[in-house]
Amino acid sequence: MSGMVPVIAVDGPSGVGKGTLCQWLAVRLGWHLLDSGALYRLTALAAQRRNLPLEDETQMAAVASALDVQFLADASGASRIVLGGVEVGDTLRSETLGSAASQVAAFPAVRAALLRRQRDFCRPPGLIADGRDMGTVVFPQAELKLFLTASAEQRALRRYKQLIEKGMDANLAALVKEIAERDARDTGRAVAPLKPAADAKVLDTTQLSVAEVRERVLALAIQRVTVTVIP
Ligand code: DC
Repeated sequence: MSGMVPVIAVDGPSGVGKGTLCQWLAVRLGWHLLDSGALYRLTALAAQRRNLPLEDETQMAAVASALDVQFLADASGASRIVLGGVEVGDTLRSETLGSAASQVAAFPAVRAALLRRQRDFCRPPGLIADGRDMGTVVFPQAELKLFLTASAEQRALRRYKQLIEKGMDANLAALVKEIAERDARDTGRAVAPLKPAADAKVLDTTQLSVAEVRERVLALAIQRVTVTVIP
């Protein structure tokens, strides 16, 4: 099925604003959304709930393939995520879980275990795929590949504001450090490292507002893909 369904792949480092952009774009186009980072986060969370060692590739791959997860879309484009019958709230977005996710995501067996599950999101009328390797590995056939970047400081500041808005604890200096560490791990890993696909459109958002990023991305989508924009 995935061969016929249009895909817009949106890759980039953590905190660059892909999540909100992709949710918005999915609503505007009336397309499905894959939050691939959530699958890595859920793998780490499921392992932690069962007290399994994150360093063990075989056990982490087993957890990834057995993930009992449902994504229930709501009208805003955000989804309610249910893991093992229990709704996962904002804890999924914590920086600690992001780091744990980045750790398990470096294992080839974990990536392989999640590949099919990610491709299954590709259903008509189209898919917005948010991640690190959407354009390079998971959906190399994507009609439009975007790679968003922004300085680590700017990304830490955005993440800080997001966490505070959600009423969660945040420390800016610690976030800069965690983001830099996560960048180094995601970029440096041997399998599916974070990098733009050769045919990706790279967009540096450091100096751009959310509205400006949305406007540029929507213009590219209209240019490259047959879409119906929902007002
Ligand atoms: O996008 P995110 O912050 O929710 O992702 C959490 C971690 O998961 C990220 O640091 C690396 C990993 N990840 C990945 O390796 N490949 C993806 N396609 C998405 C996320």
